[in-house]
Amino acid sequence: MKSIVVYRSKSGFTKQYAQWIAEELKADIFEAQKVSAEMLKTYDKIVYGGGLYAVGINGLKLITRNLDRLEGKKIAVFATGATPPRKEDIEKVRDMNFTPLQQKQTGFFYLRGGFDYSKLKLIDKILMNMLKLKIKGKKKTTQLEPDEIGMLAAYDKPVDFSRKKNIEELIAYINS
Ligand SMILES: Cc1cc2nc3c(=O)[nH]c(=O)nc-3n(C[C@H](O)[C@H](O)[C@H](O)COP(=O)(O)O)c2cc1C
Repeated sequence: MKSIVVYRSKSGFTKQYAQWIAEELKADIFEAQKVSAEMLKTYDKIVYGGGLYAVGINGLKLITRNLDRLEGKKIAVFATGATPPRKEDIEKVRDMNFTPLQQKQTGFFYLRGGFDYSKLKLIDKILMNMLKLKIKGKKKTTQLEPDEIGMLAAYDKPVDFSRKKNIEELIAYINS
């Protein structure tokens, strides 16, 4: 059984999980930019990972556009994000990124990553500054939600919630 882990990562959180998963599965590992559908077809088990950017999974189209060509393969997708793993948020991400049919063809997992402003490119820095202004403008500091307080603090100091044990459920799925 040949396994491949493919990922797209802007600030390293998804890359770390991809490396842990590839180690565990003894899989080949590639950045998504270097992978084609033809190449994916030569594997039995496929794991794709991307960071969450405004709820979208970075680079996921490599998988969703090619699902009909990958019939019979075991496919797992993971997304990393900064927010805590709340069931309703994870379901929202799943439903926004996959059609009901695609959800039957793939396993989806949310693995909490972190946030590192210093590693972002200019465009993402601008987007994050707009979000910061939105949070700050919305209410007084004393009325902020815990997530918003955490998010604002993370601009000055990187946060990393990545843990190797978070991959266990995905590994069990891909090996089932
Ligand atoms: C512009 C922007 C939008 C983001 N949107 C979300 C989001 O919708 N949900 C979330 O949990 N995290 C969000 N994040 C945080 C990233 O998903 C998080 O840092 C992720 O682990 C990055 O993975 P990567 O470094 O592998 O690309 C966002 C970050 C940026 C810069």
